[in-house]
Amino acid sequence: MRDQSITIQLTEEKNVKPAPSTLEFGRTFTDHMFLMDYTEGQGWHDARIVPYGPLSLDPASMVLHYGQTVFEGLKAYVTKDGVAQLFRPTKNIERLNRSNSRICIPEIDEEFALKAVRKLVEVDQDWIPNQLGTSLYIRPFVISTEPYLGVAASEMYTFAIILSPVGPYYKEGIDPVKIAVEDTYVRAVVGGTGEAKTGGNYAASLKAQEKIEDQGFAQVLWLDGVERNYIEEVGSMNVFFNIDDTIITPQLSGSILDGVTRNSVITLLKDWDIKVEERKISMDELYDAYKRGSLKEAFGTGTAAVISPIGQLTWKQEDLVLNNHETGPIAKRLYDTLTRIQYGEEEDRFDWIVPVE
Ligand code: COI
Repeated sequence: MRDQSITIQLTEEKNVKPAPSTLEFGRTFTDHMFLMDYTEGQGWHDARIVPYGPLSLDPASMVLHYGQTVFEGLKAYVTKDGVAQLFRPTKNIERLNRSNSRICIPEIDEEFALKAVRKLVEVDQDWIPNQLGTSLYIRPFVISTEPYLGVAASEMYTFAIILSPVGPYYKEGIDPVKIAVEDTYVRAVVGGTGEAKTGGNYAASLKAQEKIEDQGFAQVLWLDGVERNYIEEVGSMNVFFNIDDTIITPQLSGSILDGVTRNSVITLLKDWDIKVEERKISMDELYDAYKRGSLKEAFGTGTAAVISPIGQLTWKQEDLVLNNHETGPIAKRLYDTLTRIQYGEEEDRFDWIVPVE
């Protein structure tokens, strides 16, 4: 990295902040954003915090044609003493570079990226909402900007960070959601880009989502692309099942996302001496467990959704009702513990919290 300094240009026009109780996910943005450019031969340069606003792009910018882009999602919280803090930001920055590497985007210095996140959040600190269940969602992303129509890795990029004060990801809040098992479309296959956080994976998921949205389902559960039987992940979350008090989550196979909340949940469960297994799990196994009465609860995990209990799974026209559509005890304990750590109400025994300043 040649340029380690960040120039700051503050806005003169502040946006109006919505009341925390009215916040949705990802609709409102703060006053500033971080930008930094990359040019082949020069590396990353011109790190700057500027007023939030439109980006100017050449219509031939490669991202618009071939989708060479990656993103991350992490959150800042404010404690009841007014201290702003981040949850495991280095995990997201490491994953940003793994995603970059998968689609040939040059690596970003991880310490510098953390510095950029902290500085931007510090500048817009008064945007962190302080109501339980709300937070400041941080969206770092990289786009390829070289104006060129040949299919190749771009020689120019922009790394940007924007901030959005958010409420719950689902309209259900932390109440159980209904999930449809998707057996026509697949999200990713081993060897593809499933474990990278790149826009194309999300574009590929829209068709299935569209199919089920007006039937009262929040998201789909993705199955593997080969046998259409092994469970991968749920929409924008990793997924966990409680079968006879063992918590099972699909292993990181190369086609699913290595979630930061997933990792935190596994750490907490092990710390509580609850048996956790990361392994292949099929719909057939899950269905058998359900029929035996052994499938006690299921929940999704993700930065945006935190812990999202699953009250119903619909597979081949059959509704599998879980825990009587109620939040199960493990999902509740995980949600409470994670959010208490994030809001500074419980000791951070795992060194997950990084102060903004
Ligand atoms: C997140 O949990 O941060 C995600 O990546 C979900 C996002 C696609 C809304």
